[in-house]
Amino acid sequence: MAEPKTTELMEKIVSLCKRRGFIFQSSEIYGGLNGFWDYGPLGAELKRNIKDCWWRSMTQLREDVVGLEASIIMHPRIWEASGHTSTFSDLMVDCLLTKKRFRADQIEPQSGTAYFYTGATEDGTGKETKDVFSVLLPPGKPPESARKVAKQFYQQRSINNPTLLGERVEQVKDSTKYNPENGSLLTEPRPFNLMLETYVGPVQSSENKSYLRPETAQAIFVQYKSVLEASRQKVPFGICQIGKAFRNEINPRNFTFRSREFEQMELEFFIRPEEVIQKMTGSVAKLSDSQPSTLNPQPNWGWELWHKYWVEERVKWYESIGLSRDTLVEYWQKKDELAHYAKATVDILFKFPFGTQELEGIAARGDFDLTQHQKFSGKSMEYFDEEAKAKYVPHVIEPSAGVDRLALALICNAYCEDQAPDEKGKMETRVVMKFHPRIAPLKVAVFPLLKNKPELVNKTKEVRDLLRPHMTVFYDEAGAIGRRYRRQDEAGTPFGVTIDFETLGEKGPDLKDTVTLRDRDSMKQERMKISELVPLLVEKIR
Ligand code: GAP
Repeated sequence: MAEPKTTELMEKIVSLCKRRGFIFQSSEIYGGLNGFWDYGPLGAELKRNIKDCWWRSMTQLREDVVGLEASIIMHPRIWEASGHTSTFSDLMVDCLLTKKRFRADQIEPQSGTAYFYTGATEDGTGKETKDVFSVLLPPGKPPESARKVAKQFYQQRSINNPTLLGERVEQVKDSTKYNPENGSLLTEPRPFNLMLETYVGPVQSSENKSYLRPETAQAIFVQYKSVLEASRQKVPFGICQIGKAFRNEINPRNFTFRSREFEQMELEFFIRPEEVIQKMTGSVAKLSDSQPSTLNPQPNWGWELWHKYWVEERVKWYESIGLSRDTLVEYWQKKDELAHYAKATVDILFKFPFGTQELEGIAARGDFDLTQHQKFSGKSMEYFDEEAKAKYVPHVIEPSAGVDRLALALICNAYCEDQAPDEKGKMETRVVMKFHPRIAPLKVAVFPLLKNKPELVNKTKEVRDLLRPHMTVFYDEAGAIGRRYRRQDEAGTPFGVTIDFETLGEKGPDLKDTVTLRDRDSMKQERMKISELVPLLVEKIR
């Protein structure tokens, strides 16, 4: 059967990422390390642009949000208070034959004939085991296949030349108890804590055990009072942070989508509890009272409106960096899907080639976190609100996004194949990464028409140096000009500037100090003055 188209597309994207230096497998020369990735020159620029855009929109362009950069390793009690040591786990199952580990919720239901065995004896010696085992065969497979797998299982338990005991057959439907790869029975689901442990100090004892943070959020909660005092902010206000997070994912997959080391961009936005708003303004505005498109923060907003407001803000931000609304899905979690601390959560999903999956979660967390830290640390987390004349523990709205997931979404969204003429005018397939200029790794490439004409080369370097203080510029003189354009199309560089003989004034004074500016997507070229380049390009990339 032919591979689905989406798999082919992902293969092309993964291959382009490696070839063009967006993403490499970590530790590749040693065979790689599952769930860890490195970003090459273009990937590093892309990630930096994502983080800069987010930081700018979340804090620098707002009055009511300030930043924090906390340590990755924090006091281990934090993770007890937050619930991570007890509840931050996924259910896992192991294949009884290969020991391969799976997340229980990722096992596809299967139907077929299950062969059950009560044990095995060793031919010749009579040695026996009573370990039970079972194999699921898809329809049409001969019983011998099940017996072969079962014999391997008993051989691993030191029964050489096993004779299988008590074979029994049963039809099963939609079972998740078997390894989809080989039909072997899986273990019962067991919880597996996702936090990566480490030891602080020279002694590896339980007192020195600590964790690489699994989210950046907790540092914000434990520092909220210090930040509040230092910044002289007033509730409602927010603290945002960008930083590394680590999760020992059972099954990292879909390229960088589920990694073990990744970066998060999180905002904790602190708001008044509803009873305080009620006392202060006489009423609490609810979601049903207002049209979401006209959301403009008001003193009588309760958590529902603040939550909706942040959902809207975040979707608008994704649009501003090139993910149109039709590539995104707003998923409102159902009551039984909500985390124990959440009153409501909206996931912003992106339509990846491998399925529609989460980019960001926006949760209304109530006062859960601050109350927990108050309890575990013994320090008050209460805030005195002068305007409301009330003391309370603030409630929280949390938009939490992943940098790496977003980088992958932007790469998938940008990948495009179209037709363009080659040097001889023959149409060929062009791979072009249509990044929004705001997040494109390189903003402009500059090309001398010919590399063996020093006047052209010198003038091009002059233009490069003129643009460089304002944006990332790539100078390229190697190969035919068409080839150079193609290379930049693949890198996603939105603009190309070519310096030719007109620029030097050789075709008349009118065209002196003009260049051609090529648009990556339309491939159209227009002539313009060098002096116009900076303002024009800066406007497009801001
Ligand atoms: N503080 C809330 C929190 O951490 P989360 O839904 O577990 O919530 C937030 O994570 C975001 O972090 C996700 O929407 C995703 O973008 C990113 N993320 C989580 N786990 C990830 C992983 N294993 N690999 C890459 N990104 C991940």
